[in-house]
Amino acid sequence: MKKITIKEVLKKKNKQPITCLTAYSKITAKIVDKHCDIILVGDSVGMVLYGMKTTKEMDINTMILHAKTVKSFAKRSLVVFDMPYKTYPNKNIAYRNAKKVIKLTKCDAIKLEGGKEIVNIVKYLIAKRIPVMGHIGLLPQSSKKFIFKGKNLLQRKKILEDAKALSNAGVFAIVIECVIENLAKEITNSVPMPTIGIGASRYCDGQILVIDDMIGMSDFHPRFVKKYSNVSEIIEKSVKKYCKDVKSRKFPTSRNIYKF
Ligand code: KIV
Repeated sequence: MKKITIKEVLKKKNKQPITCLTAYSKITAKIVDKHCDIILVGDSVGMVLYGMKTTKEMDINTMILHAKTVKSFAKRSLVVFDMPYKTYPNKNIAYRNAKKVIKLTKCDAIKLEGGKEIVNIVKYLIAKRIPVMGHIGLLPQSSKKFIFKGKNLLQRKKILEDAKALSNAGVFAIVIECVIENLAKEITNSVPMPTIGIGASRYCDGQILVIDDMIGMSDFHPRFVKKYSNVSEIIEKSVKKYCKDVKSRKFPTSRNIYKF
């Protein structure tokens, strides 16, 4: 199976939309790997799997466990590790943590949230040969509220400057989260690397969603998520049927037991 490289992701800009989803565990990683260009081991795992209120509560060692699993079952996709809150406050700590992450998980790249204010950290990591994916717009690690970005001129200017600063620093892709359509379009047209949108319109070079949101396994229902299935409903039906079978002694049957 041929592995997708950063070079190939870069080549897709203006040619072919880039497909990305999150994954945090074995079976999901195996499925997503068959179809997506990029798998993000997102810090959203904290909210999705552990019921945390924000992604700020996620710690690096738990993320490493998830990423190790995902990376060992994803043979094809590019696997990106989302650096959790407070793991990159300055270039030295960022490098120490990123080096540990890459060594232990074998992930292909890391993602950092932020724009101009983290450019020196991004440049340092790239100089140390750690590929970096940027993340601008709505930044869950620092935003107080879940609000769309880019509505006023000041915000637009800041986000556009963030994109250009990250681009100059050498990131290989930029996630744009929850910004208005024409700003996502302007950013996409002004940087040479692919933009990956989440709630940022079809004008981005690729799209990413949190997988649990799009398969109906979370209680987060923003407008930008298209629900492709309702796995919660399937689980509930199965659990109900199982309980009914146990209570009525329909399960286990002779097919489910061991005999000499
Ligand atoms: O943590 C995550 O899943 C993310 C995506 C929303 C881009 O950062």
